[in-house]
Amino acid sequence: VWKPEDQIGKLIEEIRKEVKDGDIIIGVSGGVDSTVVAVLVHMAVGERAKAVFIDHGLFREGEPEQVVKLLNSLGIKVYYVDARERFLKRLEGVSDCEEKRRIIGETFAEVFTETLSKFPEVKYLAQGTLYPDVIESGAVKGADKIKSHHNVGGLPRWFNLKLIEPLREFYKDEVRKLARALGLPDEVVYRHPFPGPGLAVRIIGPFTREKLEIVRKATKIIEEELEKGGILRKVWQAFAVVGDDKWVGVKGDRRTVGYIVTIRVVESEDAMTADWSRLPYEVIERISTRITSEIPQVTMVTYAVTTKPPSTIEPC
Ligand code: XMP
Repeated sequence: VWKPEDQIGKLIEEIRKEVKDGDIIIGVSGGVDSTVVAVLVHMAVGERAKAVFIDHGLFREGEPEQVVKLLNSLGIKVYYVDARERFLKRLEGVSDCEEKRRIIGETFAEVFTETLSKFPEVKYLAQGTLYPDVIESGAVKGADKIKSHHNVGGLPRWFNLKLIEPLREFYKDEVRKLARALGLPDEVVYRHPFPGPGLAVRIIGPFTREKLEIVRKATKIIEEELEKGGILRKVWQAFAVVGDDKWVGVKGDRRTVGYIVTIRVVESEDAMTADWSRLPYEVIERISTRITSEIPQVTMVTYAVTTKPPSTIEPC
């Protein structure tokens, strides 16, 4: 039987064996994967583990603050890098998904390089890559590349850092079990996967700050309502998407042309396949009412009802 407790000791042992001398840097994102990696590496080599959080401005509301606070509470110091403007400026007006991902990946590598110069003793890079990430990025021979996940082998080789990926043979549910066995709080254990390129992949068409704010606010509403209904933890992911199509609405007595926000809630084991969640109508109704009343630019809310395949989970 697979027991998380048995894995922890083994993983720490492996990290210690691999990380012989020098420091190890971990890019944390608040997700269960990078948090588990940060904790394992910290357990393995103590203060030689350097956690870095790069804020690309594409996180959910309050997320950067929460991440830093959480890791600090676990005794792990976090070096916070505010790179928001650099990312957002470069993304403005960019439509193509892969182009957005490329810009984010490149900018991330750039900011990471600058950050690295602050830690001269670093020789290793730890990442929370999971088994499905390895497959979907085409890193496994014979697998087709579906999307360029910017965190899978995404950092250029010239970093000269040795890559440590303790979770590369694990599935998400196993990582959650590890997280629980490590005593991490529920907010981490049950945290939904969140793409490396953040909210940018949930904006269809040209990237604008307005659409980013719409997606951010709508996502918060979706998460809050699902949490209230006791549903959030039971689904794989739940978020908002916005594009360029407009819908004529009446707000107050005035005709307004507004955005359409799509709710995407899916159930999945490992993100390779996914089903849309059969949410109770009342929950969809509350989310819809709140989105149109709390976000002035939105006049229509839709619900995404396509499985993966043929769709993917994220729109971009
Ligand atoms: P798709 O949209 O391809 O997504 O069905 C599968 C899972 O991967 C997440 N995802 C990403 N995760 N970097 C990540 O770390 C990325 O670039 C990325 N793109 C998609 C997505 O949220 C879903 O859970």
